[in-house]
Amino acid sequence: MTAVAHGHHDVLVVGGGAAGLMCALTAGQRGLRVAVVEHANRVGKKILMSGGGRCNFTNTGTSPANYLSANPHYCKSALARYTPWHFIEMVERHRIAWHEKELGQLFCDVSSKLIVKMLLDECDAAGVRIHTSCAIERVSLDDDGRYRLKTTHGDMSAPRLVVACGGLSIPSMGATGFGYELARRFGHEVLPTRAGLVPLTLSGKHLERMDGLSGVSLPVTAHSNGQSFTNAMLVTHRGISGPAILQISSYWQPGDALHLDLLPGEDALEWLQRQQAARPAAELQTVLSEAMPKRFAQRLCEVWLPGRASHRPMRQLDPAQLKAIAGIIGAWPLVASGTEGYRTAEVTLGGVDTDGLSSQTMESRRVPGLYFIGEVVDVTGWLGGYNFQWAWASGHAAGMAA
Ligand code: FDA
Repeated sequence: MTAVAHGHHDVLVVGGGAAGLMCALTAGQRGLRVAVVEHANRVGKKILMSGGGRCNFTNTGTSPANYLSANPHYCKSALARYTPWHFIEMVERHRIAWHEKELGQLFCDVSSKLIVKMLLDECDAAGVRIHTSCAIERVSLDDDGRYRLKTTHGDMSAPRLVVACGGLSIPSMGATGFGYELARRFGHEVLPTRAGLVPLTLSGKHLERMDGLSGVSLPVTAHSNGQSFTNAMLVTHRGISGPAILQISSYWQPGDALHLDLLPGEDALEWLQRQQAARPAAELQTVLSEAMPKRFAQRLCEVWLPGRASHRPMRQLDPAQLKAIAGIIGAWPLVASGTEGYRTAEVTLGGVDTDGLSSQTMESRRVPGLYFIGEVVDVTGWLGGYNFQWAWASGHAAGMAA
């Protein structure tokens, strides 16, 4: 008790988000004296706002293939040792009702507040001290191997420091670049960061062509840089969003080609040929309006499809015309100008280079006792619960090792 009152701990965790809380409770359960230092007025703000307030807390299909990183192997060990089923076991122990939405995505039935409460209850039971509204003024590493934090709640020290500050997404929720600064200060490489899982913006004539379509949603397969995702696309006031677009945004950068297949699961040419055979008297626009939202089909016909083809009966379209139309419908060449940026991005790509970290423990290879976990590290998941699973798994790995 005296030791803790004087700020001496075994482990200090910077950042009370998903990864930091998981690390803290795991280390606390091992009997270590742990403190979490959170500069915001409460912990777990992103958990609270996640999944539309219901927190998509994991994905039962999690595999290393669902993550982007300069080293795709880095996440394997931690993910294998703390699986979605470990987290589900904790959720069930706390009697939190959950349901599967699509593709293995698990959500709370009631509220993401229950996930934060569960993590806080576990921290409490493990004796973890949590300091909120606690700003860090200085971090140093003494000759005796102790990390010292000068904070607005007093000085704290420990031989282990876990950096769990998250990424740059949603600054209004407490996101800062502090974790990257700490990494650089201790000699770590930080790979360039950019917004991921983020809506794409259009500009100029590309935006004008979408005028009035805001709110229209349709299934697409979005392709860029060798990746593709099939899901809904939503037209917004500034561009395009929806799960298919958020997913592909992590693989796309300005200037890269982006193709949207507007008839996912179909070969567009074969589909048009089938329509032509079955409904020779129907106009192309009518046929398309039955396969996608009417307003969208009309605009597609007005702006993107060749000449007057849209108002001709299908039987009048010759093979070359059908092929040209199929080329546009199957790989709609929308030109995005950028992304909405960190203001609305769910995650930050890039971050602390995994080359300098142990994939077993998340500990720095350069500076003993320093750990990096969660989103601050260059490991970024797809949409669908994968980012929390990385936060839990990396937090658990560090909590077991620290
Ligand atoms: P996280 O951001 O959770 O925590 C970092 C903490 O560090 C914050 O509490 C922050 O205030 C604190 N901090 C920062 N700087 C500090 C400093 N200088 N001193 C002290 N503390 C500091 N993922 C998913 O799997 N399923 C989902 O449903 C969603 N939904 C979702 C919705 C929205 C709107 C967003 C923005 C994101 C998601 N995500 C998600 C992504 C998920 O929230 C994210 O990947 C994890 O929260 C990352 O966990 P971390 O603990 O690494 O960072």
